[in-house]
Amino acid sequence: MDAPLIDPFQRPVSYLRVSVTDRCDFRCSYCMSEDMTFLPKRELLTLEELDTVSTAFIRLGVRKLRITGGEPLVRRGIMTYFEAMSRHLETGALDELTLTTNGSQLHRFAGDLAGLGVRRVNISLDTLNEEKFAQITRWGRLPSVMRGIDAAQAAGLRIKINAVALKGFNEDELFDMVEWCAARDMDLTFIEVMPMGDMGSEDRLDQYWSLKDLRARLEERYSTTDLAENTGGPARYIRLNESGQKIGFITPLTHNFCESCNRVRLTCTGELYMCLGQEDRADLRPALRSSTAPALDEAIRAAIRLKPKGHDFDYSRQKVDGQMPRHMSHTGG
Ligand code: GTP
Ligand code: 5AD
Ligand code: SF4
Repeated sequence: MDAPLIDPFQRPVSYLRVSVTDRCDFRCSYCMSEDMTFLPKRELLTLEELDTVSTAFIRLGVRKLRITGGEPLVRRGIMTYFEAMSRHLETGALDELTLTTNGSQLHRFAGDLAGLGVRRVNISLDTLNEEKFAQITRWGRLPSVMRGIDAAQAAGLRIKINAVALKGFNEDELFDMVEWCAARDMDLTFIEVMPMGDMGSEDRLDQYWSLKDLRARLEERYSTTDLAENTGGPARYIRLNESGQKIGFITPLTHNFCESCNRVRLTCTGELYMCLGQEDRADLRPALRSSTAPALDEAIRAAIRLKPKGHDFDYSRQKVDGQMPRHMSHTGG
């Protein structure tokens, strides 16, 4: 392996999130508007280009790949890319190949994904109520996700449920979600809603439910232990002592986890974003399309030199400046 990627703040970059499409078959209200315009398909990296650029990152020391979108499983031919990445698992160059999905197509792909060495999937699910699910995702149907979850578990995949905490929307389901995940032996992580994408007429602040408050409610019912575990990711974990269940919290607004950040994000058009909450980025497409492997490696190294110290999500500033123009579905969350 070549010299590993180290950013200007001495953080090794070992985790790449790859958005393979900006398209999605849902329209979650905190993510995109109902009439969202997607990129013309010709602007997307081809599956071959995705393979080339991901392989370059692995050559430079990336050990974990998370495939995201949009909804990654709506990208046509996506299993070809998973197959290509799976060969890096076989050689030991990659520790983990995983994805974040809305679950709608999972019943079709769970078996193949498991066969290719995927061990875990993160599934976004904010409510267990069919009507509320249709309301928040606009186009989604809960039974399709449940079918995906069943198929994934039958295939032996471990599941983490990601639930965005939304005031007045899923507050009343807190304990139902916790108990449902425990009964199915799934991990659960709550996420604070972030000021990204189309804000429309909604004020995101109205939906913002602090995880401090959510956690306090959990602690009224269960005794908990803080887990020191830090996966280099944004989540912090606690254990519910009664059940042994692990619960994660992703709190970009109330807790800054940037000092241990190990990740960068490749968009579906080949731009590398250094931070979810900052605009620092580099277009890898020119090097990818016209150059050799060493030139691509150098373009990646040069990009990593731009990684900022941290994000500065802040609702007060968002209110002054208006929305953050970038969509989570473009950058891959
Ligand atoms: P791991 O790979 O297990 O660490 O998963 P993860 O929780 O990072 O990935 P997932 O795709 O499930 O992301 C869950 C949520 O965390 C999404 O809303 C992401 O946008 C958010 N998230 C992931 N990484 C970061 C980050 O570096 N900063 C911030 N602010 N949020 C992040
Ligand atoms: N704030 C917080 N989480 C978001 N997600 C999408 N948009 C937002 C937002 N504005 C989440 C999805 C999914 C993950 C990849 O990103 O619910 O769990
Ligand atoms: Fe699709 Fe995920 Fe955005 Fe919902 S949050 S619209 S499932 S990309």
